[in-house]
Amino acid sequence: MSKKIGLFYGSTTGKTEAVAQMIQEELGGDDVVTLHDMSQAEAADFDEYECLIIGCPTWDIGELQSDWDGFYQDELENIDFSGKTVAYFGTGDQIGYSDNFQDAMGILETAISEKGGKTVGYTSTDGYDFDNSQGVKNGKFVGLAIDEDNQSDLTDKRVKDWTAQLKTEFGL
Ligand SMILES: Cc1cc2nc3c(=O)[nH]c(=O)nc-3n(C[C@H](O)[C@H](O)[C@H](O)COP(=O)(O)O)c2cc1C
Repeated sequence: MSKKIGLFYGSTTGKTEAVAQMIQEELGGDDVVTLHDMSQAEAADFDEYECLIIGCPTWDIGELQSDWDGFYQDELENIDFSGKTVAYFGTGDQIGYSDNFQDAMGILETAISEKGGKTVGYTSTDGYDFDNSQGVKNGKFVGLAIDEDNQSDLTDKRVKDWTAQLKTEFGL
């Protein structure tokens, strides 16, 4: 177990992967954050870290991205997240999918916190326009909500602000 952070992401068309790389860079690069693509990750990979970042876009109207979906069905329930601090980010499309914006982030946060993970990295919904999201709990996003489809000009600042927040909340 090390203080190093494991960032686990799924990405079908590359947007979430690009955000994962930005987050890695802002937190100090490869020495601090190890990237794991969910198309290749295994349950045992999660055991290596006490701090985790989970990245998942929402696909197919409120569903997890396909690599995360397979893992969620088959493996997630066998992982013990107790003692782990977990931050979440997602990418989504608030105009095209206004009733399901960032649902995946909320689905994963619910499952992982039920298995003992402590959630950090909540953010305000100010500056977004959507009707419904499973990614919102108690009036806040459970993590960082990125919209490369409609607000890509805001991504850089959102990532910078959030990673500064995480440095405190992870105790880096
Ligand atoms: C068929 C399809 C369904 C989608 N469904 C949703 C959705 O339900 N909610 C949402 O927020 N975004 C949705 N999106 C937008 C994607 O989440 C967004 O483009 C995301 O950045 C893709 O990430 P990726 O490139 O890492 O796979 C959908 C996009 C497509 C093409």
